[in-house]
Amino acid sequence: MAVLTVKNLAKTFNLGTPRASRVLDDITFEVRGQTFVSIVGPSGCGKSTLLNIISGVEEHTSGEISLTSDEGRPARMGYVFQDPRLLPWRSVLRNMMYVQDDQGEATVARARRYLDMVGLAKNADFYPGQLSGGMQQRVGIARAFAVEPDLLLMDEPFSHLDAITARGLRAQLQDIWAQSKKTVVFVTHDVVEAVELSDRIIVLQPGGRIYEDIGIDLPRPRRQTDPTVATLQAEVLARLEAMKELGRTTEPVA
Ligand SMILES: Nc1ncnc2c1ncn2[C@@H]1O[C@H](COP(=O)(O)OP(=O)(O)O)[C@@H](O)[C@H]1O
Ligand SMILES: [Mg+2]
Repeated sequence: MAVLTVKNLAKTFNLGTPRASRVLDDITFEVRGQTFVSIVGPSGCGKSTLLNIISGVEEHTSGEISLTSDEGRPARMGYVFQDPRLLPWRSVLRNMMYVQDDQGEATVARARRYLDMVGLAKNADFYPGQLSGGMQQRVGIARAFAVEPDLLLMDEPFSHLDAITARGLRAQLQDIWAQSKKTVVFVTHDVVEAVELSDRIIVLQPGGRIYEDIGIDLPRPRRQTDPTVATLQAEVLARLEAMKELGRTTEPVA
């Protein structure tokens, strides 16, 4: 598990040029322990940029960010992206092992255990081309968990899947997460998905500021068919509709 602290973080692309654009502004939050946090907001509001800054792929412009394991070591990170990013010429198991530093038997056994958790134990020797999109994404999830990260970063991992497949994967993700004690930062534009999965939802508004930081206090496991989940989903959706109104009223009048 990880301790992630973000303080007054801002990001401007193309700083000092006429194309300069601020995409994140005054972002402050802290996440620690076995928490599942979602970053939610409309397309283009800076969610992926924030995730990329957390992962170290992207530099921030100002503010502070600190990430350690909960024992104070440098945090180990795992990633799941929109696309599974599997190497087509490697088998499922060899794709899982590709991201591992250690290639020993215990690591192979762990990779197989996570494959089993996503229901793909029998597909270890298959090639990605022999799997459906949903199965490939399950390999991506198993691979990220199998590196035993302190912090798992997920960027819209289900947005390319059909609704039924995505629902199945969300249920599976909840089950694995409950067993594995990880800190997760999950990016999505889908509020309904965020309510089902998260302990907390950080809502970004266009312009890259935090609009709301909402605690989701629902028992687990949660299923989309559960009426208490559905009620809260509707409530949070309504709150975000209010954000859109806000966006409209603050738009410059041409
Ligand atoms: N490397 C980049 N250079 C310039 N602008 C970028 C770059 N990456 C993203 N942006 C812009 O930053 C804004 C936020 O992008 P992004 O973080 O991908 O949003 P989201 O993931 O919420 O859809 C968008 O307007 C996007 O065009
Ligand atoms: Mg994005």
